[in-house]
Amino acid sequence: MRTLVKNIKELVGVETSPKQRKEGREMAVLETVKDAYLVIEDGKVRAFGEMKELKEGNADLVVDATGRMVFPSFCDSHTHIVYANSREHEFVDKIRGLSYEEIAKRGGGILNSAKATAAASEEELYDMAWRRLEEVMRMGTGAVEIKSGYGLSTESELKLLRVIRRLRETSPLTIKSNFLGAHGIPMEYRGHQEDYVDLVINEMIPKVSAEGLADFIDVFCDQGFFTVEDTERILEAGIKYGMRPKIHANEMAVSGGVQVGVKYGAISVDHLEQMGDAEIECLKGSDTMPTVLPGCAFFLNLPLSPARKMIEAGLSVAMASDYNPGTSPSGNMQLVLSMACIRYRLTPEEAFNATTLNTAYAMGVSNEVGSIAVGKKANFYISKPMASYEYMPYAYGENKVERVFLNGKEV
Ligand code: NIG
Ligand code: FE
Repeated sequence: MRTLVKNIKELVGVETSPKQRKEGREMAVLETVKDAYLVIEDGKVRAFGEMKELKEGNADLVVDATGRMVFPSFCDSHTHIVYANSREHEFVDKIRGLSYEEIAKRGGGILNSAKATAAASEEELYDMAWRRLEEVMRMGTGAVEIKSGYGLSTESELKLLRVIRRLRETSPLTIKSNFLGAHGIPMEYRGHQEDYVDLVINEMIPKVSAEGLADFIDVFCDQGFFTVEDTERILEAGIKYGMRPKIHANEMAVSGGVQVGVKYGAISVDHLEQMGDAEIECLKGSDTMPTVLPGCAFFLNLPLSPARKMIEAGLSVAMASDYNPGTSPSGNMQLVLSMACIRYRLTPEEAFNATTLNTAYAMGVSNEVGSIAVGKKANFYISKPMASYEYMPYAYGENKVERVFLNGKEV
């Protein structure tokens, strides 16, 4: 099957020599082709270029994009979309003055979601997560990493991971699975959390691995949650079973999470609201992608991660949604793109790279998705008519996506 998209006002985010990720100054480089065509064959990008150079106009399907732009689909490398309940009551508690940590201490927060999620069937969880995936797909997302972590018992964690497996088998999105058994400390383990860490290590990890349910292993390494020592033990165990670390770090405090992530070769360290110079230094020269979650900082009114400073220090930066019921009840990557520019002062070019190629890297799929490159999956969206690509981050709140193609097929 050959598809031709023609008369594209501007084809954005192309790569002629594809990179795994973009770092520092390279992040400001966004290749585009004006008045372009795009040819797709068997679900992959076959060719692209200027309309005036298009030789073979024949195709099984011709899509005319006159006045519109084509962008590579967003990659969302950090989500928790398998959960049962929304948490707007806690949202109101926070407005009235309670902090996220205070809510968590009294058994709300993650434990609140874990309770509701334990009571839901696999089928129900699948349906709810499917609807969330559909919603983000319509807004331009083509790849998602999904974490477990609202189970917090062996049985429930396995249930969530099986839901993720089923989503992966049935959805056109590219999906990666992350085991986050160490997301919260269940009430019955308060005061002796090392026993819960033992459960994660001795029971959960071997079972998750036996069913091949997770690509990554995650820990919420932060003040009030898991310590650096807990994190080291869990990561060592996960690595033995072939799961690569990808962790939550430095949301509440300078937790040592960045250092422990880099030490264990994490593919990404995520959140990073609390960063000192030592954390930035430690990331230099590493394979670990610093990942900022603008939706979480916005929703919880947290200090902003120093993304600009990291880029100026030569680092890569990725930006993902953190879609979850407690700290970011939205998976809208168009909004993340806008926040990258508005709140973190990334240029539009840097913001596109942060939400496509660099997030693809942060979930281990940048050789397949994250840009328009020959041989990569044909995952892209056609925008509504617009004058320039800067309109995408500028017009925050508006859905600028008109048509979505994943694996070369319109969805
Ligand atoms: O990434 N920080 C830890 N985990 C999630 C929040 C989970 C929740 O509150 O339900 C996050 O923000
Ligand atoms: Fe998260």
